Amino acid sequence: MKYDIADASLAAKGRDRTEWASQRMPVLRSIAERFARERPLGGIVISGCMHVTTETANLMIALAAGGAKPALCASNPLSTQDDVAAHLAVDHGMPVFAVRGEDNDRYYSHIRSVLDLGPTITLDDGADLVSTVHREKRELLDGLLGSMEETTTGVIRLKAMHKDGALEVPVIAVNDANTKHMFDNRYGTGQSTIDGILRATNVLLAGSTFVVAGYGWCGRGLAFRARGMGASVVVTEVDPLRALEAVMDGFRVAPMDEIAPAGDIFVTVTGDINVIVGRHFDEMKDGAIVANSGHFDVEIDKKTLASMAAEVLRPRESVETYVLSDGRRINLLGEGRLINLSSAEGHPASVMDMSFANQALCSEYLARLPERLTPGVYNVPADIDAEISKLKLGAMGVRIDELTGEQREYLASWEMGT
Ligand SMILES: NC(=O)c1ccc[n+]([C@@H]2O[C@H](COP(=O)([O-])OP(=O)(O)OC[C@H]3O[C@@H](n4cnc5c(N)ncnc54)[C@H](O)[C@@H]3O)[C@@H](O)[C@H]2O)c1
Repeated sequence: MKYDIADASLAAKGRDRTEWASQRMPVLRSIAERFARERPLGGIVISGCMHVTTETANLMIALAAGGAKPALCASNPLSTQDDVAAHLAVDHGMPVFAVRGEDNDRYYSHIRSVLDLGPTITLDDGADLVSTVHREKRELLDGLLGSMEETTTGVIRLKAMHKDGALEVPVIAVNDANTKHMFDNRYGTGQSTIDGILRATNVLLAGSTFVVAGYGWCGRGLAFRARGMGASVVVTEVDPLRALEAVMDGFRVAPMDEIAPAGDIFVTVTGDINVIVGRHFDEMKDGAIVANSGHFDVEIDKKTLASMAAEVLRPRESVETYVLSDGRRINLLGEGRLINLSSAEGHPASVMDMSFANQALCSEYLARLPERLTPGVYNVPADIDAEISKLKLGAMGVRIDELTGEQREYLASWEMGT
C-alpha cells in the first residue's frame, strides 16, 4: 500500500494549513533552503513516527528537500490531522500511514508499514519505532545509522534499554537539547494544553482551582499559563527539589490525596503511571475535569474510573462524563491521551521550529558521520543546539551583545583583579 490516510480530498486544506505553519518556522525554512542546495540526505530513507501535524509536515518537506525519502506514521492514535496526512501523501507523494482515531491494530500496522520501507534513519516520539525494530524487525538494525527521540518519556525508555544492554542502535536525544525542552516542553505544552482543555470544555479558568501534577518542563509551563489566566494553581510533585521550586515560584504544593476534593481541573504531566487513581475519583467534586498531557495515556487510571461509573455520557466531542453511583460526574478529556494534540492542534509552529530544526540538523549529522556511532543515547551536538538559538534570535530580529576581548579574558582567568 502506498499510503493509508482517511480522506485524500482533504489535501488542499492540509496544504494551506501547512503553509500557514511554515510562515512561523523560519529556522526550519532556512535549513530546508540550504538542504535543497547541498542535498546532504541523498539516498537516506527516513521513517518517522511522529504526531501528524502541520509542523511535522514541514519537517518532512525539509528532509525531502535535503534528498531524503521520508515516510510517516502517527505516534498517537488521536493526534493525526487527517488533512495534513492527505497533503503529504497526495501533494508530496510521501508514504503516510495515519488515520485519526485508528485502533491499536491499525496503529501498529502503520508502524510496520513505515519500517517496511527499510529506513536508514528513524525519528521517534515515544520510542515506538526503535522498540518495534528491536522486537520484530531486527534485520533492520544493521542498516540503521541511528534514530532521533523527540520526547522525555522516549528518552527515559531508551536510556533504560541502554542500561539493560538491550539498545542496539545509536539514538540522539533531541528532547534533551536546550533549544527543545526549554521551549517546546515549557511554552509549547504550557499553551497548547490549555488550548486543548478550553476547546474541549469552554470552561472559564479564572477563579478555578487548577491542579498540575508534575512540575517538570511541561508542568512549569502549564502552571504559569493557568495562573496567567486567573486560576488558582496547585502543584503535586514527588521530587523535593521540583516541589521547592514550585513553592518559590509562588504555587501551593500539596499531595494529590489532599487536593483531590478541592480541584476543579486536574492535569497530569509527569510521564509516570497511575498518578490519579480510584481513591482520588472517590473524593473529587461533582463536575471535576481530568486531563493528561504526558506522553502515554497511563497517568490517569481510566480503567478504574470506567469500573466506578454507573453511566458514561458524551456531552461534547472530547469529553466523556463518568457518572458515579452517587451521582457525581467526573469529566475525562480526550480519553486521557495528550490533550493538546487530541483536542487542539499541538504546539504552535514557532516553538516546533526549534524542535524540528534539531531533528533536521541531527539527521544531517548522522548522515554525514564517517562512521556509524556505537549504540547508546547521545546528546544533540552542542554546536547544533547553539546554532539553533542563534538562528531563532536572528529570525525574531533580536540582537545581543558580544563579549569583548577583555571580558573573554576576565571570565577565563582566576588571576585578574576584582
Ligand atoms: N503534551 C505534549 O505535547 C508533550 C510535550 C513534551 C513532553 N511531553 C511529555 O510530558 C511528560 C513530562 O515531560 P517533562 O519534559 O515535563 O518531564 P520532566 O521529567 O521534566 O518532569 C516530570 C515531573 O513529574 C514529576 N513526577 C513524576 N511522578 C510524579 C507523580 N506520581 N506525581 C507528581 N509528580 C510526579 C517528576 O518528579 C518531574 O518533576 C513526559 O511524558 C513527556 O514525554 C508531552
